[in-house]
Amino acid sequence: MAELADRHQLYQEAVQNPEFELDFIDETFEELVGRKAASMREDFCGTALSSVDWVRRRDANTAIAVDIDPEVLAWGNDNNVSMLAPDQRERLTLIRADVLDVETEKVDVVQAYNFSYWFFQERATMLNYFRRVREALIEDGLLFLDVFGGSECYQTQKEKRKLDGFKYIWEQAEFNAITNELKCHIHFHFPDKSKLKKAFSYTWRVWGARELREILQEAGFSEAIVYRQKFDAKTDEALDEYIATDDAEDYACWLGYIVARP
Ligand SMILES: C[S@@+](CC[C@H](N)C(=O)[O-])C[C@H]1O[C@@H](n2cnc3c(N)ncnc32)[C@H](O)[C@@H]1O
Repeated sequence: MAELADRHQLYQEAVQNPEFELDFIDETFEELVGRKAASMREDFCGTALSSVDWVRRRDANTAIAVDIDPEVLAWGNDNNVSMLAPDQRERLTLIRADVLDVETEKVDVVQAYNFSYWFFQERATMLNYFRRVREALIEDGLLFLDVFGGSECYQTQKEKRKLDGFKYIWEQAEFNAITNELKCHIHFHFPDKSKLKKAFSYTWRVWGARELREILQEAGFSEAIVYRQKFDAKTDEALDEYIATDDAEDYACWLGYIVARP
């Protein structure tokens, strides 16, 4: 089963939830800007799943999807973009480029999801990235980033989730307590006991929400709002609801978004 599996398909099923993420973008954009967003750039787009869903959402929507890896872009083109109707396809542009030097027309929304901007290890690189994103946004555009925190980011651990026909394993394999470098892997296990080990591997720096806001401010963003995942007051269970807050309890693992305005 592992030999026959397609790692990009499994990743999309296990990790991505474009409908939820785009609902959050739509609702937050309307609330903060007072109109609907139409143009979006998806940085670190991988298979461009979110951009594909974006151009499907509304006829006025356009998307530019940027990734450095030609293999994942080709997969996205063959498996996701090819499912679009011709008029939807015309509103989506795939670009193979480094997000640190890509030049694109100005957009309403830049999204960088699934912590990919944490590939950037140096503060100067993060500052450069945020400056360039700011340049890529129209005056009342918004940058959407995700963020996670809590004591569990700073330790090795494994987390397993059962999905339809396979198991998803998130492994934090090494954490460097001096540099905040976290080495992670995604593995997939199958009912016939076969395994797709290290289907994806990342080395991230664990950044804090406060320091990211400071760098965003230095890059010229006027405001950066943190939306933190809510927890059930009785059970402590994480909920699919995010609220703007500067005041958060120290849950061992929490997810959030940072929304920044130029
Ligand atoms: C974890 S995937 C993210 C996929 C998708 N955005 C998501 O939400 O799941 C990270 C992607 O970032 C791309 N990437 C890494 N560094 C990059 C860079 N400097 N510029 C553009 N893409 C980059 C990789 O090729 C990979 O496809």
